[in-house]
Amino acid sequence: MTQHNKTLGEFIINKQSEFKYSSGELSRLINSIRLAGKIVNHEVNKAGLVDILGTAGVENIQGEDQQKLDVYANEVFINTLVNREIVCGIASEEEDDFISIVGGNKKNDNKYVVLMDPLDGSSNIDVNVSVGTIFSIYRRVTPAGTPVTLEDFLQPGKQQVAAGYIVYGTSTMIVYSTGHGVNGFTLNPAIGTYYLSHPNMKFPEKGNIYSVNEGNYIHFPKGVKKYIKYCQEEEGDRPYTSRYIGSLVSDFHRNMIKGGIYIYPSTSKNPNGKLRLLYECNPMAFLAERAGGKASDGFTRILDIKPTELHQRVSFFCGNKEMVEKAEKFMRKAKKK
Ligand code: AHG
Ligand code: MN
Ligand code: MN
Repeated sequence: MTQHNKTLGEFIINKQSEFKYSSGELSRLINSIRLAGKIVNHEVNKAGLVDILGTAGVENIQGEDQQKLDVYANEVFINTLVNREIVCGIASEEEDDFISIVGGNKKNDNKYVVLMDPLDGSSNIDVNVSVGTIFSIYRRVTPAGTPVTLEDFLQPGKQQVAAGYIVYGTSTMIVYSTGHGVNGFTLNPAIGTYYLSHPNMKFPEKGNIYSVNEGNYIHFPKGVKKYIKYCQEEEGDRPYTSRYIGSLVSDFHRNMIKGGIYIYPSTSKNPNGKLRLLYECNPMAFLAERAGGKASDGFTRILDIKPTELHQRVSFFCGNKEMVEKAEKFMRKAKKK
């Protein structure tokens, strides 16, 4: 990376003038997320060492219990956003209910609510495989200064003001969009600064990767089974290659760069799929569309779905537009029969 690359801080300052009525609130919010991301990154990177250091009595010298990383990440993001007084409400995959930061004698006129999956792909943490954080930002719909309500969180994804993810991979990156384009920044851990490394990210014209947990194959709907067989057929640019990490963030990130489709369909065990509409699918769908891709539940655009509950699950088809459309075609055809 050259020194001429723009830093995330500089990028945010430059972009702020593009928002006509911006008070800088959204910029400060993204700044808080990037800070929390650095703290979580530090913890994720030493995850493998915790036991080693712990047994030597080094890590736990202050009597702090070793925490599960998803609980830790949840606390870091919530504390950072609350302490910086930057949002009016937070909903997290790790919390039963949403959190209102307005109330009591605390004055808070902030406009934005944040929804997040603080640690995505947590089953990969013990085996040194990439994990991530996903965030989604909306403008509240209830009046500023009053406690937030469920209504502020149950907005369709198309109302998102910004969304993004942090991937704690071979390097740590933050990728986000405030609605214009998708930009990726890589963390230089030596100085703790993110640099613009992936400006204006777009899915390549054509994709040849399909990402799905094929272990669940027999439980998949007929349309998905047929689409998988289509991916494996020897014809034209097929067979496609199969890649599945088991961390949505990492699978999405790879597919956006290399071209591919990610599918988590309904199964007999999870009739509405496994992924969560508000914390995982909406933000990824927002990014996918801004990067020229598409996201659907197999029939309907993800961003059009009106949520009915916080932890709602949904089937998810996301990636290169053409590939998602093809999969939808298989879904429709199987449904008709
Ligand atoms: P989380 O760690 O936040 O619970 O999310 C895990 C999700 C997602 O990241 C991943 O794509 C999917 O679960 C993997 O599920 P399977 O193990 O069922 O394939
Ligand atoms: Mn997740
Ligand atoms: Mn999670």
